[in-house]
Amino acid sequence: MKVTSDRIKTVYDKSNAVEHYLSKDRRDSVKIEWEEPFSCFVFKQAIKLFDKTKKDKLRVLDVGSGTGDGYVLLSKLFLEDQEINNYQLDYFGIDISPQMVKTANDLYADENHVKFECTDIRTTNFTEAFDIYLSCGVPYSHLTNEELHKALKMIVTNICKHRSRCAVIVDVLGRYSIEWKPKWGQSRWDYAMSFFESEGHAEPTWMSFYSHEHLKEIMKKVADDVGCPVEKFEFFDRSIIVGRHTSTGQFNPNLPKYRSFINSLLDPLEKTELSQLVFQVELNSAPEHILEFFKKFSGWWNLLVSQAGAILGESIEAELVELPLEVRGFKAEVEKELQQISEKHLYREKVELMLAEVLRKLEATQQPGYGVGHDLFGVMWLDATGL
Ligand SMILES: C[S@@+](CC[C@H](N)C(=O)[O-])C[C@H]1O[C@@H](n2cnc3c(N)ncnc32)[C@H](O)[C@@H]1O
Repeated sequence: MKVTSDRIKTVYDKSNAVEHYLSKDRRDSVKIEWEEPFSCFVFKQAIKLFDKTKKDKLRVLDVGSGTGDGYVLLSKLFLEDQEINNYQLDYFGIDISPQMVKTANDLYADENHVKFECTDIRTTNFTEAFDIYLSCGVPYSHLTNEELHKALKMIVTNICKHRSRCAVIVDVLGRYSIEWKPKWGQSRWDYAMSFFESEGHAEPTWMSFYSHEHLKEIMKKVADDVGCPVEKFEFFDRSIIVGRHTSTGQFNPNLPKYRSFINSLLDPLEKTELSQLVFQVELNSAPEHILEFFKKFSGWWNLLVSQAGAILGESIEAELVELPLEVRGFKAEVEKELQQISEKHLYREKVELMLAEVLRKLEATQQPGYGVGHDLFGVMWLDATGL
């Protein structure tokens, strides 16, 4: 089925789509403590390119802005990060869904440096200049490969027209996420979104899934076709073990509910069975470097889970591998922290919280940018100032 602009608009224009994006339940602990900080980290990498002495205003275009999550993340970054907070944010969100745009404009009506407009990224000809063209929540995955090329081409053409130095952040679904392992052989499939169900049937929603090589090939071709010099590319995976669909089981029903287990670790009132966290996923065929990555990553993950188990007197088998530097001191740090706690019944809560934190750190620091997480961010820095 061909996805026309009207098709996507119809899917997102349902009031349950807007409700879903605004609902408190959507913001679980993994989203708040793992995913949002990681998206901010990616945005920060893009923003850091700018020389603070040159300008104080940062003009941001958020593509597929929905109800404005990108604006919320940027505002947080601008408020809290010392390296960023002397810029003034000038934010423009565009989205194909009038319902999303209306909701976003109502939500931020009092903020005069923020506006949202209804636009289809596949057919827009930009006129205004921006410093960052960002995206979050995988809007570009709605497009076919050809449509992605066309949409990026219009952005890069605008960058050249204004002779700007810019960063373009392209957020798509990772092809090799464990959430949809049975689909690894296909790059575009029906990602029927359960929260858009009407009368019990999820709407068909065709989405494109990307490996790092494929996304880079499209981004590079766009820059070459337009003749825009590229300073560098970088790729980032977000949510490798904890993608949303590890909990829904929608596309890989046999997968342990890793996201729910991490949410449970982060909830002081819940006791988590640590052995459930062991990564024991049978992987099917994929390029060698993808399989190698999962082998290495699962070894680190399982060893950390096993170390936490040992501290609580639970035996969880794991191979003895060398941990990355960023997480190497975990066991000693937990033991040191426990010495500060006199009441033994509080040990478990502390260990569970520290385990969640070290697993988050493992994902954030060891992600290879291959397309092995729920989201793959491709960032392209372009410099058209010399054209
Ligand atoms: C999963 S939502 C993400 C929304 C928001 N960025 C967030 O992080 O919550 C994807 C958004 O992309 C928008 N979208 C899909 N195709 C689009 C297109 N061709 N042009 C503009 N927006 C589009 C949808 O309407 C939807 O709001």
